[in-house]
Amino acid sequence: MTEWLLVYKGYDPEEESLREALCTVGNGVFATRGAAPEARAGDTHYPGTYRIGLYDRQETTIEDKTVANESLVNLPNWLDFAFRVEDGDWFSVDDADLLEYEQRFDIREGILSRHIRFRAGDRTTSVTQRRFVSMADSHVAALETTFKAEDWSGTLEVRSGLDGGVRNEGVERYRQLETRHLDCLETGTVDDNSVFLLVRTLQSHVRIAEAARNRVYRGGEAVEVDRELVQEADYVAHRFTVALDEGEELTVEKVVTLFTSMDRAISECSRAAREHLQESPRFSDLLRRHVLAWSQNWRHAEIRVGEQENTDLAVNLYLCHTLQTVSENTADHDVGIPARGIHGEAYRGHVFWDELFVFPVLDYHFPELTRSLLKYRYRRLGAARRAAREAGYQGAMYPWQSGSNGQEESQTWHLNPRSGRWVRDETQLQRHINVAIPYSIWKHYQVTNDLEFMAFYGAEMILEIARFWASKAEYDRALDRYQIRRIIGPDEFHTRYPDADEPGLNNNAYTNIMAVWTLMRALELTDLLPGRRRELLWEKLEIRRLELEHWEDISRKMFVPLHGDGIISQFEGYEKLEELDWDAYREKYGNIQRLDRILEAEDDDINRYKASKQADVLMLFYLLSAEQIGDILHRLRYPFDRDTIPRNIDYYLKRTSHGSTLSGVVHAWVLARANRERSWRFFKRSLESDISDIQGGTTPEGIHLGAMAGTVDLLQRCYSGLEARGSVLRLEPCLPSDVQKLHFNLQYRSNWLEVDVTPEKVSVHAQPGSASPIDVDVEGQRRTISPGTRVDFQLNDAA
Ligand code: BGC
Repeated sequence: MTEWLLVYKGYDPEEESLREALCTVGNGVFATRGAAPEARAGDTHYPGTYRIGLYDRQETTIEDKTVANESLVNLPNWLDFAFRVEDGDWFSVDDADLLEYEQRFDIREGILSRHIRFRAGDRTTSVTQRRFVSMADSHVAALETTFKAEDWSGTLEVRSGLDGGVRNEGVERYRQLETRHLDCLETGTVDDNSVFLLVRTLQSHVRIAEAARNRVYRGGEAVEVDRELVQEADYVAHRFTVALDEGEELTVEKVVTLFTSMDRAISECSRAAREHLQESPRFSDLLRRHVLAWSQNWRHAEIRVGEQENTDLAVNLYLCHTLQTVSENTADHDVGIPARGIHGEAYRGHVFWDELFVFPVLDYHFPELTRSLLKYRYRRLGAARRAAREAGYQGAMYPWQSGSNGQEESQTWHLNPRSGRWVRDETQLQRHINVAIPYSIWKHYQVTNDLEFMAFYGAEMILEIARFWASKAEYDRALDRYQIRRIIGPDEFHTRYPDADEPGLNNNAYTNIMAVWTLMRALELTDLLPGRRRELLWEKLEIRRLELEHWEDISRKMFVPLHGDGIISQFEGYEKLEELDWDAYREKYGNIQRLDRILEAEDDDINRYKASKQADVLMLFYLLSAEQIGDILHRLRYPFDRDTIPRNIDYYLKRTSHGSTLSGVVHAWVLARANRERSWRFFKRSLESDISDIQGGTTPEGIHLGAMAGTVDLLQRCYSGLEARGSVLRLEPCLPSDVQKLHFNLQYRSNWLEVDVTPEKVSVHAQPGSASPIDVDVEGQRRTISPGTRVDFQLNDAA
């Protein structure tokens, strides 16, 4: 296994769904799971294809409750490709007599291949398949299959089609909900070689057209075959038989186009799919362009870590999946970052706060992409304003889970697979999504210096969100403090006080402090925006001086719960909860990541205990420097001593089950300076999270994009100490002992940089160009770097 190849030897039905997720091929617009082309959806195989941002809403009645869910739709299966030798059984990987089986995902080139040798009767056949979803042309995918008759002469029959009879059945616990989202409108042929299929989503009425061309080649020469059209209500295919001589090779190229009515610059999607198919060249030409597009991606974003092969493999894989979910192709679309990629149906393709973990990676490589993804939020400002108004607040309140139109998409009930019970889902009270959004906007500005974006989009969102926080904060005269009540923090285990009738907790420290941070940024905009723009925006939003004074007041008097010796309480009253007997639970259940489900199944309630699913208070140390936290706490007139940071880390680390993959990333980060060894262990575990499916069954339902990108970011920003603050790019490395070298490319304020970090020095090389020089600070040594120059900084504690 090299650092660019994910190789699976042998076929393992148990592992197939995980491989499918990890071998998904995609281009930032649509993606297809690494399913066997001959397989239909069932317990072992699940050939899903998803187009980012394409949702459909359906209602289901369960146990007298009607639930509505908006889901990322599983689109017609373009992979569909079956074959058989003579008139034997159609090949099935589950039933075949396999002599060899290997699957490879070439991460560098975004190509999934499969090599099979099997026997049917006394005939040995080898089959090699390669597929990709084109990074160069976001409407194209292709599958090439080469057969070799090793020891026989005879006929081979192929059926290659488009299957519109698919449903959303990828996540077992959602199967009780409505799974049908598509209505097939039309099937037919484009020309002698090609078929097409047009479907429409049932509620959102998005039309999706796929067209597929199958051509056959023997020794590089095109072969004419007699095709039979198979046309059913929601399925269309060509079926043909070809003769093969012993030792001969035959290749079938399937080229597919996919358009939807959401696409731009088209007249109608079915016509676009057919026309584009006819213009599309052969597999090899498409492949060449696809590989070039990937090589360009890597030149933007590759990150190399010393000599650690396994580290590099997982890092490359995670970056690859990040870019298969959102790439430069995505930049033209009105979509957000789905937490589970476009690799499966978990969380229904919804957009959460996980973007907070993805944006920092994209900002430094594809700033135009971040800009576009942030505009997804801007376009939903109206929905956020409506949500705030309806809940009795001002400004804009973004939803915890977002889909097509920006309304709240969180489910209100969920199934605990352990107990089989439907339990209330109160996680939508996570208002901290409204600090994640301003934080990402602000960071984007720091990295790019893009005042235009800030002035026209970012500022309006920050101001409206600040308004929301100001109306959400309640003033307590007796305390002379503001409080934020009835919400929940990132730790989803705690949703209410034990035995309380109402959900919600008071004064989640992370939310309160970050709300103050947001208000401070909103106030800063007064000086940041160009005068006229500020005037216009203030006028449009009717911002008055009194309102700004109110924000200022809150930003100085927000309540922050503390207990013990400098411990920031996760929320008010946290210290009164019971301690959990962690050892007993570990012993009894082994994996206790989802303690909430375990306790519910025991008729107990996780709310009673000091037990967190993921980092909550510690998120503060992830997002803000010790200096920034100190500034805010001093502003709020609370004591703060840097020495309390390790104590806080230790306190919560002991009480966290890491039931979210995001948790490991945050812990690796906050431990990086205090305990490098431990941090590196968390990093390694995060690196394992999807590749080894450490949650035991969640990765097959979709990758964890926040954890993937967040893990890459640990190398890019955490261990290198990279930070864009003010107008200075800072690097303050803290390399773990296993890392002898870090290399990455960056874009910073229109400069294209190459950065090398070793334990001894940091080198920054700015590519030639016309960008303005930048200030770089490494451990207090500040230099101005102009395009075309390179500067080496010796590190202070270099051996
Ligand atoms: C985590 C959330 C996260 C969501 C989507 C949940 O399990 O607790 O923090 O946003 O998954 O990834």
